[in-house]
Amino acid sequence: MCGIIARIGGNDGAVDELLTGLENLEYRGYDSAGLAVKNGSGPEVVKREGEISHLKEALADEVPDGGLGIGHTRWSTHGPPTDANAHPHTDCTGDVAIVHNGIIENYDELKSELADRGHEFTSDTDTEVVPHLVEEALDDGDDPETAFRRTIEKLSGSYAVAMITSHDHAVYATRRGSPLVLGVSDGEYFLASDVPAFLDFTDDVVYLDDGDVVVVEPDGHRITSADGERVDRAIRTVDWDPEDAGKGGYDHYMLKEIHEQPAALRQTLRGRADPATGEIHLEDFPPGTFEGVKRVQFVACGTSYHAGLVGAQFLSEGGVPAQAFLASEYATAQPPVDEETLVIGVTQSGETADTLAALRQATASGAPTLAVTNVVGSTAARECDDALFIRAGPEIGVAATKTFSSQVVSLALLGERLVRDVTGTRTDGARERLEALSELPGHVQQILDYTSARRVAAEYRDSDAYFFIGRGSVFPVALEGALKFKEISYEHAEGFAAGELKHGPLALVTPDTPVFAVFTGRNDEKTLGNVKEAEARGAPVVAIARGDADGARQYADDVLTIPDTHPDVAGVLANVQLQLLSYYAADLLDRPIDKPRNLAKSVTVE
Ligand code: G6P
Repeated sequence: MCGIIARIGGNDGAVDELLTGLENLEYRGYDSAGLAVKNGSGPEVVKREGEISHLKEALADEVPDGGLGIGHTRWSTHGPPTDANAHPHTDCTGDVAIVHNGIIENYDELKSELADRGHEFTSDTDTEVVPHLVEEALDDGDDPETAFRRTIEKLSGSYAVAMITSHDHAVYATRRGSPLVLGVSDGEYFLASDVPAFLDFTDDVVYLDDGDVVVVEPDGHRITSADGERVDRAIRTVDWDPEDAGKGGYDHYMLKEIHEQPAALRQTLRGRADPATGEIHLEDFPPGTFEGVKRVQFVACGTSYHAGLVGAQFLSEGGVPAQAFLASEYATAQPPVDEETLVIGVTQSGETADTLAALRQATASGAPTLAVTNVVGSTAARECDDALFIRAGPEIGVAATKTFSSQVVSLALLGERLVRDVTGTRTDGARERLEALSELPGHVQQILDYTSARRVAAEYRDSDAYFFIGRGSVFPVALEGALKFKEISYEHAEGFAAGELKHGPLALVTPDTPVFAVFTGRNDEKTLGNVKEAEARGAPVVAIARGDADGARQYADDVLTIPDTHPDVAGVLANVQLQLLSYYAADLLDRPIDKPRNLAKSVTVE
């Protein structure tokens, strides 16, 4: 997904800091990068297809330093990844340089009008209409701010845009449907698609709202609404330090983030559950918050959807009707939604376009909405009526790991509150479950210390395909195990409900397709039956099971052991073993684990 960075400071230093910002944005996924720097005269643009190292090579002999600039990592949506399509884009005169994230839906129409008026285009992008529109407004005599405002009024779609011009020493920026944050430091400002981009330089952040227009100069910033009214946005200090956003000695962010899970889970749980009394303390959700709720719908994508499936199952078992929807399918599914339907968006980033669209649809139908997210100040957190933060800390690897664990735990706590409010009683075994949740950080640590996932990954590295099965609360874990495996290893992997194996997938099972079966201590007998079906076709079986799961251990060729815990919580532990399995399988194949091909961390287009 495209990333924006801008730096506004004194007379020099912009190139280095913009490059740092671009490198910090790499995790979002990109296929080209560029920057524009001002050093007195007009903006000088350098941009290259491919890695940031290509841009650095080009910069070595092309651009002098300056105090002010904008940078961009592009993830192609209009036109292939080429030097010409990379951002920044400029107008006919080269006086205006723009970076953009999102999609300008009416660009075709705008482009042909501009072309009719004599503008020349050098790229296939939707973005390029923006500098040409600004150019026209400047030609009409507008100052840069008015020209910028008049231009964005003409755009439809979703975007975050930042602009510099040869006319002054300022950056103009706005957002609508795409993230943009302002970083405030001593004599320096930054604008970026997200906080880690400038975390090396400041942790003081202003979250901008949709429609905000911000003008940033070396000595200050000014935020106004779309119609020019001054607005105040608080400066917040984030508690993410640059070390958090770096690899911290691990080979990959993904491995680091897998190992951060005990700490992340402690933060997720901190102050929220008391196993001794069975009480739940969710800051914005005191007892009674959800009394009027009749049903719950989860909307989410990818890994977050799998967490949503776990959440829905938990609620249904507790007596609250609940369903999980893939956010991109929500509009066509048209489930019944009214003011008694609580719609919960599960989204690590809080910026996934499909999830935001589903939440907006729910709002339009009168439903209360709640975001379960990792990012304070994200669009989902701000647009929903309420937000529950999973507190997992920044996740940089494209493959979600620690955030899944923290999502599931957050949803278990939220689920318990919902069940109590809606049914008037606690769930069966609530205290035991809370006890198991509070033990999770230690149990995850045990897995990290003793896992044999690397050996198992090596054992089956030459297989044709990899199948993952589970039932009940670990069916979503089977789906997540397979998603992780295919995302980062590029090997064919599928997840199935254990009982479905015999209804089709069994046709694919051979001695070269290992089956990873997840056991929780509940309904294990049935899953064991499915394992035997696979074994009868010669497939090797790897059980992910407790140390005392005799049946599973007896039939499996290998076991990835999980500590003894409550069956509802076992899935989180099994998933950690599967995360490690995927990681080591991908590492053995030398895959670019943190940035798998064709994937992006935060997908902000529908
Ligand atoms: C992308 C990522 C996935 C993630 C999904 C949802 O596809 O590659 O890892 O699960 O988006 O992201 P969200 O931020 O909404 O949880």
